[in-house]
Amino acid sequence: MELTVEEERLLRDTRAPEPLLLAPPAPSWPENCHAWRALAQSSLHAPKLEDSAPEGTKVGSLDPRLLFHGHLRTVNTPAIAKAKLLVAEQILANQQRRHGKAGIILDGPRGTGKSTVLQAIGVHWERRLSDLYGPDENRIPVITLNVPPPTRGSMRNWAGAFARFLGQERESGDLTESVIRTMRNARTRLVLIDGIERLRTAADAELAFQYLDVISEETGATFVYCGRGAQFIVDPLTRDNDTKLDPTEQLRGDHMVLRTSRMGFSGEESIAFARVIDLFDAELVLYRHQPHDLRKVAEYLHTRSRGYMRSLSQLICQAAQIAIRSGEEQITLEVLEKVSLGRVVHL
Ligand SMILES: Nc1ncnc2c1ncn2[C@@H]1O[C@H](COP(=O)(O)OP(=O)(O)OP(=O)(O)O)[C@@H](O)[C@H]1O
Ligand SMILES: [Mg+2]
Repeated sequence: MELTVEEERLLRDTRAPEPLLLAPPAPSWPENCHAWRALAQSSLHAPKLEDSAPEGTKVGSLDPRLLFHGHLRTVNTPAIAKAKLLVAEQILANQQRRHGKAGIILDGPRGTGKSTVLQAIGVHWERRLSDLYGPDENRIPVITLNVPPPTRGSMRNWAGAFARFLGQERESGDLTESVIRTMRNARTRLVLIDGIERLRTAADAELAFQYLDVISEETGATFVYCGRGAQFIVDPLTRDNDTKLDPTEQLRGDHMVLRTSRMGFSGEESIAFARVIDLFDAELVLYRHQPHDLRKVAEYLHTRSRGYMRSLSQLICQAAQIAIRSGEEQITLEVLEKVSLGRVVHL
């Protein structure tokens, strides 16, 4: 009996049951600690060529290789490695402090990979503590939140956001008190807050920090604030604004500021860009791809993405999908030229 490719793959790959697709595949958002833990512990496996539809077959929209290249895995850029190290140092420094912990600010322009760095830090600590102390349902080492949207009276429901993540939606009584209790019991080490740019006005930011300061002081967690312009939003709230400054002094808080940027065109930055390209190159699963193929188009990718991680990721992912669909199975200049990203197309 002749088996179809799909049947062969099913027989060979018994690692995990296929998800029952009742709707188009979509990314999942970690809305509470259980979903976040699952996301942090899961590792997305790259599809193997030997398990994929053979070269030359027309692929459907649910083809695993096509879906995989829709958003390649996070590559461990030098920025991520450095940020992980610096955050680790700060966490260790804060470890024995009940008061006076210093937080971290993650700032940088749009599309330069801030949220990706933030998530990589979270995943690192979630896994590290689970490896060190063994898995434990009651431990919540990392809380990851977005600045909640304003509700009536332009207040933001921070307590609700923390409680939802901790899975306490239906608990009655003082939400903040139970958030603090849970975070202490769950040994939370790290609170990651993304979307700081949503705190547009000084009053909005001040209100937010009135709440966040309480949580920070009452728990053992180190806070990381991430967003465009986060330094100028967070810094005024973490420093002494009362003492008169010496004329030579600069007004500055004591939180560490980590800054992402696009990879520019100086000699050093071009080398850094080439390294990142190599990391993406190693992720590609295309039939005619040879290791380091992307180096041949590195200059083109640099000019077109202008060194922004978001554009770079989009260019490579879209080109890979075109290469799979067209059967070219390799990322070349011609394939990249077919990507319309960032272009004006006259109709
Ligand atoms: N290390 C990485 N590996 C793979 N892809 C990455 C990496 N960093 C960034 N990207 C890609 O770039 C996209 C944009 O990155 P990210 O969302 O982290 O930027 P951002 O600085 O948070 O942008 P914004 O200011 O708009 O929030 C990501 O969705 C991802 O596709
Ligand atoms: Mg972001």
